[in-house]
Amino acid sequence: MKDILTKEGILNNLTEDFNVLLFDEIDSTNLYLKNLARDGADEGTVVIADSQTLGRGRFDRRFHSPKNCGIYMSILLKPTLHPQDAVLITAAAAVAVSQAVEKLSCKKTQIKWVNDVLIDNKKICGILTEGSFKNADSFDWAVLGIGINAYTPENGFEEDIKNIATAVFEEKETGLRNLLCAEIINNFWNIYKNMPQKTFLEHYRNHSCVLGKEISVIKNNVSTYAKALGIDENCRLLVEYTDGTKEFLNSGEISVKI
Ligand code: BTN
Repeated sequence: MKDILTKEGILNNLTEDFNVLLFDEIDSTNLYLKNLARDGADEGTVVIADSQTLGRGRFDRRFHSPKNCGIYMSILLKPTLHPQDAVLITAAAAVAVSQAVEKLSCKKTQIKWVNDVLIDNKKICGILTEGSFKNADSFDWAVLGIGINAYTPENGFEEDIKNIATAVFEEKETGLRNLLCAEIINNFWNIYKNMPQKTFLEHYRNHSCVLGKEISVIKNNVSTYAKALGIDENCRLLVEYTDGTKEFLNSGEISVKI
């Protein structure tokens, strides 16, 4: 059984008009869309690929992007948010993915602050939002990149991620990747249009695998124990260190003790 991404299949399931560009292989959908953004492309331009040769995640880490099994996509946004709230775009995308995956796979998802979506504590999706700014107070544009392990790759997950990654679906089904892709875009767009209301944060908090947990906060390669106390209205993570001091984290890396 094959499940091939097609432009028609994606467009048929979208509830609004998007300019969708679909590639079999690309270096990186984020890189490609950033170039289009610099050339003045419109909000709602979406670049999707079946595989990437230079897929990148946060901290410039490689994002494995093999063919026939994933969804690698980037959406161009012209946010009216303050740049310091860019984390809300990432959080909104995590909620959009979580809702779509739960609907189509009937599996429960968890969200790991700030940008990962998990099933059974293993990563199914990473999100990378990159922006260009008019000035300190406003975005020129943002590129929201979403990478999903829809199926397990033909040769299995690569050595460095095989213990921490999993796939959304076990069995390939015709049209399922198109549907998941469109469902995520539809969900995200609904949240994005109503962003100021921040209602999506309820789902974000309910699905958090971090809240109330002992975690390690990693800064400049130094790891410090803390407890995750809450997620505020700007999606900052409130942590309490063992000496009792508290801090709101805006971005960065944490690991959760399971
Ligand atoms: C992470 O896990 O740190 C984020 C991964 C983001 C990967 C996606 S795949 C589509 C888009 N293109 C990229 O090169 N990266 C993002």
